[in-house]
Amino acid sequence: MRGLQPTLIRQFFERALPDSINFGLGEPDLPTPQFLRDEAARIARDEQNGYTSHPGIPALRDKIAEQYPHLDLPRTGVVVTCGSQEAMTDAFMCVVDQGDEVLLPNPSFPAYDACTRIAQGTPVYYRMPADDDFKFDISNFKAGITEKTKAAVVISPSNPTGKIMRPEDLKQIAEALDGTGIWLISDEIYSDLYFGERPHSASEYYDKTIIVSGLSKSLSMTGWRLGWAASKDAAIMEAIQVLHGFTTVCTSTITQKASLLGWSDEAEAAKQHAREVYKKRGEFLVDLFDKELGLRATSPEGAFYTMLDVRSLGDDVEIAEKCLQNRVVTVPGVAFGDEAKGFLRISFCNTEEKMAEGVARMKKAIRG
Ligand SMILES: Cc1ncc(COP(=O)(O)O)c(C=O)c1O
Repeated sequence: MRGLQPTLIRQFFERALPDSINFGLGEPDLPTPQFLRDEAARIARDEQNGYTSHPGIPALRDKIAEQYPHLDLPRTGVVVTCGSQEAMTDAFMCVVDQGDEVLLPNPSFPAYDACTRIAQGTPVYYRMPADDDFKFDISNFKAGITEKTKAAVVISPSNPTGKIMRPEDLKQIAEALDGTGIWLISDEIYSDLYFGERPHSASEYYDKTIIVSGLSKSLSMTGWRLGWAASKDAAIMEAIQVLHGFTTVCTSTITQKASLLGWSDEAEAAKQHAREVYKKRGEFLVDLFDKELGLRATSPEGAFYTMLDVRSLGDDVEIAEKCLQNRVVTVPGVAFGDEAKGFLRISFCNTEEKMAEGVARMKKAIRG
């Protein structure tokens, strides 16, 4: 653990001046839907909430399994975890041994690097080229595979780029991995937040896929800690269940019971609303960067992130620092890998009014 540092995302956020505009953290600002709050309050007040079985309430596991009809999962194919972060850590711990290599996207969420190291593996990166709008490129992916590769990670929609992998990309990955025994860990935490076509899951194309996902982002439930791991592979799910039982026992019973409403008509309407809001905000922000700063930002396809190209202005860490001093929190691209050097990750979990104020402050910081 000594070698692991808090991420640059946290380091910048924690140094924010009072009244800063936050383009930094990837945390939904939309309120948790009222029907979920009411249900959780009712459950806490009226019911006895002891432990659940380690892998979670059967009805909830069934609902999650139904989300992947192509896998035809039994209940045992799902373990409910404390957010998708726990599912991810469990997956890495169960798959990766000392000396194994894990193929990770560059740029990507820094937790993959940390989880690889926690499992005593070695991170190896495949480039999602900045000059091609951070799109997936199978030749880069294949170039990273060696006889030591034990697992690979895909994320779609992506944190930090907001890009979605196309079905062709996922098919190419499945072809490249076919017969190798390499695990694919598919981070689908943003899969309900898309602005065009619904993203495909890597598990549609490759059986040795472990899905990690949850309700945090699509229903603004980050603090509730409802996530899951799901896979067709019975042995890996058994291992994840054992590790999960010894690390957390079960995620909050109140959260699990209330989350049974996470696929109701009301919940689907809330997810649809979130998609519409984030899509509109993304377009607004990208347009504003162009008009106000004369800078290009990637057009988001999902999640709530865009990458602002500040290469013409200099070093991303220095620019993020200048923004921070002008009360705007951003994250330097290098926090996600050297491919994103010269970019800032901007999260649009803010009202248009706040985003306009944030861009005005950035203009001052950058242009003086
Ligand atoms: C890419 C990605 N995966 C996983 C997580 C973890 O989310 P949670 O544990 O709340 O499900 C996050 C949170 O920021 C994320 O951005």
